[in-house]
Amino acid sequence: MLTREKVLELLNPIKDPFLHKTFEETNGIEEITIKEEKNHVSVKLAIGKTNTAEQMQLQQELVNKLKGEGAATVGLRFNQLPDEVIAKFQPTSEKDTSLLGGETDTKFIAVASGKGGVGKSTVTVNLAVALARLGKKVGIIDADIYGFSIPDMMGVEQRPALKGNRIIPVERFGVKLISMGFFVEDNSPVIWRGPRLGKMLTSFFKEVEWGDLDYLLLDLPPGTGDIALDVHNMIPSSKEVIVTTPHPTAAFVAARAGQMALTTDHEILGVIENMAYFESQLTGEKEFVFGQGGGDKLAEALNSEVIGQLSLQQPYEEEGVFAPSVYQEDHPNGIEYRNIAAKIIEKYEQ
Ligand SMILES: Nc1ncnc2c1ncn2[C@@H]1O[C@H](COP(=O)(O)OP(=O)(O)O)[C@@H](O)[C@H]1O
Ligand SMILES: [Mg+2]
Repeated sequence: MLTREKVLELLNPIKDPFLHKTFEETNGIEEITIKEEKNHVSVKLAIGKTNTAEQMQLQQELVNKLKGEGAATVGLRFNQLPDEVIAKFQPTSEKDTSLLGGETDTKFIAVASGKGGVGKSTVTVNLAVALARLGKKVGIIDADIYGFSIPDMMGVEQRPALKGNRIIPVERFGVKLISMGFFVEDNSPVIWRGPRLGKMLTSFFKEVEWGDLDYLLLDLPPGTGDIALDVHNMIPSSKEVIVTTPHPTAAFVAARAGQMALTTDHEILGVIENMAYFESQLTGEKEFVFGQGGGDKLAEALNSEVIGQLSLQQPYEEEGVFAPSVYQEDHPNGIEYRNIAAKIIEKYEQ
């Protein structure tokens, strides 16, 4: 003859099929009734989710167990556990703790431009390095999936390692990096379209072990295409930096990218004017080889401001360090990037 205590002892160690916690932990056994004359046991249980295949299975398991210990007949009734109990025991693997989960403190900065060739990737790299030089934990997602260039610009030659099924980003100059370039062979063109591309981008957020980041920069593809729009939709909290050259036409085209940010409700941190001027090393004279005023015009159109102007100049040649697009800290452009990074930090931290 089964007793109440015996039934408890039998059922308490069994796990709730949804919460993967024992009934003892969830307090899932609500009522036990024993009818001695008929040797009938009835139990009222609360579980994470009712009316499912898992419940049927559990039902079978419980009936077998109780009958195996001597019950002639068994009656079971299932209720749903209170929401707060479910929330408390929800398996953490089902909570989205990735960068897209909305629970992160990471600040997302998308770097956009109207067209290619204006220095969007150069700006992404150097802004990231400048933020890292100021002590921030920084990552880059090279989201220019067809036109990836960041690994080459930073002189990265290794590939990301795998830890289980997580991807460990490559790190250089204190910046963590992931790029489509790591996943294609021999610089061959990417011929994926649509959903696969979207999935790649999602993987860059979810399957990469970013650790704790203060800033994640995204090098968007130029213009206002699907990927740029995907990124806007995926990360509602991202803010944007728009890169242009001083040429009026470039600024005009960049305005469309900026407009897209605004219509999708993304704040613009500022406009960066790249290749703003050429400074003669001999005379110190500035020449405005690509015209003048594009950045200001763009900033005005977007109700924003110019937060930096870079000169037309290559990084210094450095022996033993290969990173063709990274300006040194004491390079005039390195100093300007530091100023821009400081302005951005201030905008976030004020
Ligand atoms: N301020 C600059 N001075 C000199 N060359 C630059 C500067 N900014 C970018 N470049 C060069 O211009 C080219 C285009 O820059 P890139 O960053 O690839 O542009 P985008 O990502 O917008 O296509 C690259 O070869 C880059 O090295
Ligand atoms: Mg680029």
